[in-house]
Amino acid sequence: MVAEDAILGFLQSQDEIADSHEFAAGLGIDHTELENVIKRLNGFEIIDAQDFKKDNYLLTEEGKLYAVEGSPEVNFFLAVPPEGISLANLKITLDPKVFSIGSSWSKKNNWIEIAKGSVTRKVDAVEDKVKDLLKGIEDGKFVDGNDVAELLKRKLIVKQTWKGYKLRKGPKYVSKRKKAATDLTREHLQKGDWKDLEFKEYNLNAQGQPIQIGYLQPLLEAWQEAMVREEIQNIFLQMGFEEMPTNNFVESSFWNFDALFQPQQHPARDSHDTFFLKAPATTRDLPEDYVERVKRVHEVGGYGSKGYGYDWKRDEADKNLLRTHTTAVSTRMLYMLAQKKPFTPKRYYSIDRVFRNEAVDRTHLAEFHQIEGLICDHGLTLGDLIGVLEDFFARLGMTKLRFKPAYNPYTEPSMEIFSYHDGLNKWVEIGNSGMFRPEMLLPMGLPEDVNVIAWGLSLERPTMILYGIDNIRDLFGPKVDFNVIKNGPICRLGLQ
Ligand code: PHE
Repeated sequence: MVAEDAILGFLQSQDEIADSHEFAAGLGIDHTELENVIKRLNGFEIIDAQDFKKDNYLLTEEGKLYAVEGSPEVNFFLAVPPEGISLANLKITLDPKVFSIGSSWSKKNNWIEIAKGSVTRKVDAVEDKVKDLLKGIEDGKFVDGNDVAELLKRKLIVKQTWKGYKLRKGPKYVSKRKKAATDLTREHLQKGDWKDLEFKEYNLNAQGQPIQIGYLQPLLEAWQEAMVREEIQNIFLQMGFEEMPTNNFVESSFWNFDALFQPQQHPARDSHDTFFLKAPATTRDLPEDYVERVKRVHEVGGYGSKGYGYDWKRDEADKNLLRTHTTAVSTRMLYMLAQKKPFTPKRYYSIDRVFRNEAVDRTHLAEFHQIEGLICDHGLTLGDLIGVLEDFFARLGMTKLRFKPAYNPYTEPSMEIFSYHDGLNKWVEIGNSGMFRPEMLLPMGLPEDVNVIAWGLSLERPTMILYGIDNIRDLFGPKVDFNVIKNGPICRLGLQ
């Protein structure tokens, strides 16, 4: 405001400001600061600014020294006494530079004479013009062109070209600008100065502030994945499924494998495929009578089964691990359901994290999310399973399904689920399913005519297919880009 008021105030009484540099120096402010004000006022046509180039001179280090201590020629001259002195004596008393430069310029100026090794004065007194010129330049005074040329040649000054401005009143000149008000405040009303207020105009083209809203938690999952999760959750709820509690990532081998009739020698139970826990390495709490029935069905069978015929080890079942599938949760839930009499049919689902000790690549992560659904009821058949799967996947937008016989230790029959992907023009595997074996269900105590149809799939798989994402790491884990999550449009996938 100081600079603006100064410019406008000055132009009120004077026609022009001839040189913005001098004006800035007079105000004691930096020229760049003044230049900003000039540009702004010029933009509003309050002043008219014409720019010009101006040569300016700055003192070199040597020049600055002479401006204080005097030129070497004068210092040399002053060292010569009126009666004269031998050159050798003078050389001892004077600074070598003052001696060499001073002697030659003194001679050139005809101030002294050097003959037979001694120096004598030719004039009584001298003026230090060089010092005066340098001080003048330092103070921004005008210096004659010839003198400037001389100082340049002696490298006592250097030239700098500056942009300067000549300022006059503009068409919209005012001696003092009113600060446009942006708000009508209580003070304005109290003081009564609201009558004279000029309001800043609305800039309807200004960009709005970005709105700070909540975003889907990016560290847990990308928004695409969260969207698909929500859709799938809704589908399950619409189909009458209840959510299972999946809040324990740590599970015992018993619930993850043994209770599912998965033999203890099965390769999935190797540490290459499964993360086992060091601490606590084992579980403390298993339902002992049920454990006994599971042991027996593995070793000798029962319920119409021959079993695996091997020596089942409790130590193996006690080992803690990070659950490798949410079917471990389904198993616990079915066991609990079996304990409640009379039996009531149930539809359960879950969507949560599972862990596999796998090499991470574009399509695999060591942890991912599994979607799991199951129906437990009297007299269910494979036809029911196919029908439920068709219903479920159709609601996700996948209407063309195919089933391929597969093997799981805990289901018979088992089917891999494929869906035709219109974009990719091929059948892609989307999940795994089956009917839980009697070796799994009957030791739990479920009624004999009760069957369980179940299926599982990863959450990442359909998300990648639906969104055309080809690297799983863009979707889940530490490499998820926060900005993609913030800026990405929400799209509804066309799910039904
Ligand atoms: N648990 C299986 C898996 O991890 C999926 C599955 C669930 C298969 C239920 C059959 C029945 O792939």
